[in-house]
Formats: sequence, structure tokens, C-alpha cells
Amino acid sequence: MYTPSVLSQEEITPLQSIELWEDDVLTRYPEAGEPAKAKEAFRNYDTPERDTVREFYRLNHKYQTYDFVMEKRKEFLLFNRKELKVWDAMEFLNTLVDDSDPDTDLDQLQHLLQTGEAIRADGHPDWFILTGFIHDMGKVLCLFGEPQWAVVGDTFPVGCAHSDKIVYPEYFENNPDSKDPRYNTKYGVYEHGCGLRNVHMSWGHDEYLYQITKDYLPEPALYMIRYHSFYSQHREHAYEHLMDDHDREMFKWVDKFNPYDLYSKSPKKPVAEELRPYYEALIAKYLPATIRL
Ligand SMILES: [Fe+2]
Ligand SMILES: [Fe+2]
Repeated sequence: MYTPSVLSQEEITPLQSIELWEDDVLTRYPEAGEPAKAKEAFRNYDTPERDTVREFYRLNHKYQTYDFVMEKRKEFLLFNRKELKVWDAMEFLNTLVDDSDPDTDLDQLQHLLQTGEAIRADGHPDWFILTGFIHDMGKVLCLFGEPQWAVVGDTFPVGCAHSDKIVYPEYFENNPDSKDPRYNTKYGVYEHGCGLRNVHMSWGHDEYLYQITKDYLPEPALYMIRYHSFYSQHREHAYEHLMDDHDREMFKWVDKFNPYDLYSKSPKKPVAEELRPYYEALIAKYLPATIRL
């Protein structure tokens, strides 16, 4: 069993704020129409933010092993930490603010409301809007003391070879699975076209929220939640060989969702109390009165 037994504070919180990860994703996948500026920013490897993001991925790639994922599932899928109404869980998530990052002008709830509102403005079904609103709720893992690299960051399959399409692939060198013959071949513990439902992903807020909501939301919503950080597939198509036709069908929804996650930045900050009745009604329609975290 390989687990990081004692982590230093620097290993738990390499980023000043977890939003820095998303800022970095945005430089990798800029919105169509503004590539020049973003590419320039991406090339600028000397910024302190970039160094912390790099350190974040070094830790993520080193510690997210097959065994680590199994252990986290055992630990968190007991859901024995808290029982809350969904809106209260969102407010709980919103206690995760980090004043030390001057660039972060939106708190968690605002990012989620903006995502939901952008989906709503485009006339999508109500379950899609609700999905936009809750998709990052799994980040409450941070509030349970989990290291940032076990909550956010690009996710990827564990138990088989790491694709070089994953950001900073060189850091997988330090992941013991990359030296383990059970896990370091193209298919590892999986089979061709086995379907992602049979594949374990690196542990983080995507899988955790999927497990919380899996009995309640339509399947496209569950795919959006479960795979929204799986950039090496939905942007780079690096794991086609593990997917089946059903996954390919469902990933059309993941693709549809991703721009809302990345690019829903309206100049006007949403006012939570004004929008609350609308989202409370959506929550009541689809989700149970309380959820267990
Ligand atoms: Fe997310
Ligand atoms: Fe998000």
C-alpha cells in the first residue's frame, strides 16, 4: 500500500487558492477568439503562480495512485461527516474563501451561480441548469482537510498507463504505479472498450459529487459531474481505448458543459439571495431534502 503518510502543510496546500488551478486550465484552453493573450500567459513559465501550479501537479501526479484512490473511496464514500440541505452545503462550500489571492474575484457560490445562469440563459433543460449550479460542490473535500491535489486538478484514469496528453506528464515518473507492471501498460487492469463505468479515475471533487448525486440526476448530468475535469479525454481524446459507445454518446454532454464551466464570466456578479428561490425549487425537484457528505 502506497499512501502519503505524513504530508507537510506545503504538500497539502501548494496553491494559494484552489482557483489558481482553474485559471491555469483557462490558459491551456482559452475561449475561441482570445487565444493570443492566453498563449502568451501560458508560455510565461516564470510567474510565481505558474510555479505553484507546477508544484501542485507534481504532488498530484506523484500521489494519485491506484491504491490512493481505493483508500479515498473507502474513507469518503461512507458519507459520515455531515448531513445538510443542498443549499446549506453550497453555503458550507462557500466558507472556502481565500483572501490571499487578489485575482480571485468570485467566490465558489458565484462561480456556480454564473455557470447555472449561463446555461439557463441558453435555454437548456432544468436538470442541466441544476448541474451547472452544483457541479463543484464536491470541493467541500477541502474543508475536510484534504490536500488540494486530491480535490481539484485534471483527473485521469488510475490502474493503467498515464497518457502524455495529461498536463505535466513528466511528473508521473514519481508515481509508483508508473513502475508497477500491473498498472503501467496501455490497458493495465482494464480491457479494450470496457467503458468508463469500469474505470477508476484519480480522486477528487468530480467523483465525490457523482457518488453523492448518482441516484437522483439524469445520466447526462452525472457524466458532466463525474468527468468535467477529465481534460485529457474531453479535450485531447487520450483514452478513447477505454470508452464504449455509450460513453461517447454521453461525452457529447460533457463537451457541451465544459465551456460553461470555463467561460461563464459575466461582468455582473450574481446575487445569491435573489437567485435562491429559483435554485431551491430545482433542488427540491431533483434532489433529496438533505444530502450526506
Ligand atoms: Fe470542477
Ligand atoms: Fe467549475
